[in-house]
Amino acid sequence: MRRRHILTRLLATTALALPITLTTAPATAAPAPARHLDDVIPAPVETHPDDRATFTLGPLTVIRTAPGSTAAWRVGRQLADTLRPATGYPLPVLPVRATPLPEIALLLGGADPRIGQEGYQLDVTRHRVTIRANTAAGLFAGTQTLRQLLPAQIEASERQRTRWTVPGGRIVDYPRFAYRGAMLDLARHFHTVDEITAYVDLLSQYKINYLHLHLTDDQGWRIQIDSWPRLTTVGGGPGTGVDGVGPGYLTKADYTAVVRYAAARNITIVPEIDMPGHTNAAQSTYAELNCDGVAPPPRTDIAVGYSSLCIHDDLTYRFVEDVIREVAEITPGPYLHIGGDEAHATTDEDYRTFMHRVLPLVTKYGKRPFGWNEITKVDPPTDAVAQFWGTGTTNADVAEAAARGNKIVMSPANKAYLDMKYDPTTRLGLSWAAYIEVRDAYDWNPAQRVTGVGESAVLGVEAPLWSETLRTLDDIEYMAFPRLPAIAELGWSPATSHDWESFRTRLGAQAPRWRLQDVDFHASPQVPWQ
Ligand code: ACM
Repeated sequence: MRRRHILTRLLATTALALPITLTTAPATAAPAPARHLDDVIPAPVETHPDDRATFTLGPLTVIRTAPGSTAAWRVGRQLADTLRPATGYPLPVLPVRATPLPEIALLLGGADPRIGQEGYQLDVTRHRVTIRANTAAGLFAGTQTLRQLLPAQIEASERQRTRWTVPGGRIVDYPRFAYRGAMLDLARHFHTVDEITAYVDLLSQYKINYLHLHLTDDQGWRIQIDSWPRLTTVGGGPGTGVDGVGPGYLTKADYTAVVRYAAARNITIVPEIDMPGHTNAAQSTYAELNCDGVAPPPRTDIAVGYSSLCIHDDLTYRFVEDVIREVAEITPGPYLHIGGDEAHATTDEDYRTFMHRVLPLVTKYGKRPFGWNEITKVDPPTDAVAQFWGTGTTNADVAEAAARGNKIVMSPANKAYLDMKYDPTTRLGLSWAAYIEVRDAYDWNPAQRVTGVGESAVLGVEAPLWSETLRTLDDIEYMAFPRLPAIAELGWSPATSHDWESFRTRLGAQAPRWRLQDVDFHASPQVPWQ
């Protein structure tokens, strides 16, 4: 009662007062467990706690952004949108110099020089929280850390009654790897724009900065291509997807909406058109893409390795160039992924012929080629990125590519594949690579996984999520959480900070946030859930 009274008076004395309905709040709120600057996923590079410097977010707090920077102001607006529902505070966003009010300041420049392009420095004193970065991406990363430093109730969609404290001190933080990715498979089961953007929201909280979209496969074609219109209306139409229950496709407008939504959260879309195998959806739609001119039937099973584009037909390369050109046109990011995995119906010689014609097409349309690790068999140009998905720890082609200068993204299927079951009882997922519990997903080093692929060769990590068994956003969440944050920490945090005991404790503290966000997570027995 007393607290309620004080808060009411405080609000009455400010011009920024909101019509807060305090009667809906519980009379006594349990005190939140004390938080610490280290209670963050991914683990920050450096923390310097100051127990005397707790900041309290209150009804008078303003969000102040670097004057003259629209980019900083946008991040401020996003932060306000995140913090308003649970606090009920007005949190005006003002591009101004220092104010006498308690403030969260988002400033450009003036930080520790180590933070680079994506890092940030966060300082918490009694009167202000200051996030400094060199870019909007760095400011955004800092705001995601701030979010985790506030009580978990900050994730509620309705006003909560708690003290919105932030532990005092300084964090200096920046990523270990440039590429910290996740992948969604839209081909085996289509996921809508709303589902993809909901996943983007979750990824961005853990400083993931790339979302790879697997847009085409044997069971479905999911991206509009104007010059081959039946790819989507037929190849992505009714009856497509595994068991025929995953139809749908992204129009170019949908795709662009996803690209923009993700970009606002520092996530770059990497589109994948898988070839020369995994192409049955295209070949069953257009008979002329088959060497014998006969369209095979559509496939809705989960077999792999049976389809191949016709390698010695010029029409194949007209098709491929049309698709690459149109996808490149709507993709502002640097990468275009051409798959290249499991081309078991293509001879090695034909595979080489195909890739040597197609890799330059990606470059022709201004993109950097990306492919599954099989592309290293054809000595691709050194700007091509290879995505390792093997389950072993040696791969001579990948090691040779790394030695030549190709960058490698690490997605070992028995560590990083989010569609693998946690254990034999998991309702969803597959198990061909492994059962992957949280500790399996966490306890490996991307720069010590494959012989000959060390720190300087690793561009980063990616957690692919294949959709053979998935239908809904709940399904996506259940497979991604809590393993996605484990992969995110491998991508961002220094190897020296790697510590399972610390991670499992910090992970356990995320659960109240996920419950409030309605994230359907796997309550692994390995984690002390709060
Ligand atoms: C893959 O899992 N076939 C890349």
